[in-house]
Amino acid sequence: MLAREKFIITTNHGQDHFWSRSAAHYERDFIDPYVKDVRGNLVRRTLHRLRGPNDKVVADLGCGIGPLLPFLSCRFKTVYAVDFAPGMLERAKQMVAKRTNVAFVQTPFTDLAVLPEPVDVAVAVNSLVLPNLGDLQTALAEIRRCLKPGGVFLGIVPGMDAVHYHTMLLMDRARSLGLPPDAARKNAAQFGDHSCYDFAFSEFRFKGLEQHFWHPFEVRHRFAQAGFVLKRLKKVHLSWTQFAGSIELKSFPAPWDWFFLAKPK
Ligand SMILES: C[S@@+](CC[C@H](N)C(=O)[O-])C[C@H]1O[C@@H](n2cnc3c(N)ncnc32)[C@H](O)[C@@H]1O
Repeated sequence: MLAREKFIITTNHGQDHFWSRSAAHYERDFIDPYVKDVRGNLVRRTLHRLRGPNDKVVADLGCGIGPLLPFLSCRFKTVYAVDFAPGMLERAKQMVAKRTNVAFVQTPFTDLAVLPEPVDVAVAVNSLVLPNLGDLQTALAEIRRCLKPGGVFLGIVPGMDAVHYHTMLLMDRARSLGLPPDAARKNAAQFGDHSCYDFAFSEFRFKGLEQHFWHPFEVRHRFAQAGFVLKRLKKVHLSWTQFAGSIELKSFPAPWDWFFLAKPK
């Protein structure tokens, strides 16, 4: 059993400040993969299948404000809630104030050596977004190193291809309203928040945050490079209500993120 006040801290560099700042308005600013009309989010179902309340250890990597922590606390013996942003961890602590098996670890993914023990399951929901690709690759290697033999790594990464898909639908919508080509492009760019994206390098920049978004081919490529076997890669169709144009576009499949499940080679 872990002491509630257990709180490991290591140093880190940069983006943690902006993530901390975004904690207060997290629900307003970020897309929620857990709302009711999301389709294909296998995170909770898979974690339930992997549960081990008497003996298994799980790490919630980039726990944020802690939406998964109560669920994990009921299904695993020990939960490590990992995040480099103190503002996020403060809110996450409130989420599981009465639980005794959750320990908080303030550290960047590039330094997971501070985790007190190897884990059976590592979960990362929309947190593998490190903008520096060297750090991203180090993070994946660190996660792999933290897993026990036979361990499982699962989660969701934000989908870059879905931004192109949404843009296509926004362009069709603008054209169907009779807008000429240039105006249709401007309209789609505005409603698709294109000013926040670097499309070539799959980056999303918002309020000081720099997040790497993923194409499915990149998930396969980087996970293989880090020594993972990718067992599952599947679209999580998000809620149309969180995207521009939802009223006219809701007969089409909603934009998506990518659910993944991987094991060490
Ligand atoms: C988009 S939020 C997702 C939070 C949570 N997993 C959820 O589903 O609501 C991303 C979280 O990952 C954390 N994070 C991002 N990059 C990180 C890094 N390099 N090391 C540790 N935490 C990181 C952020 O501080 C933030 O709390």
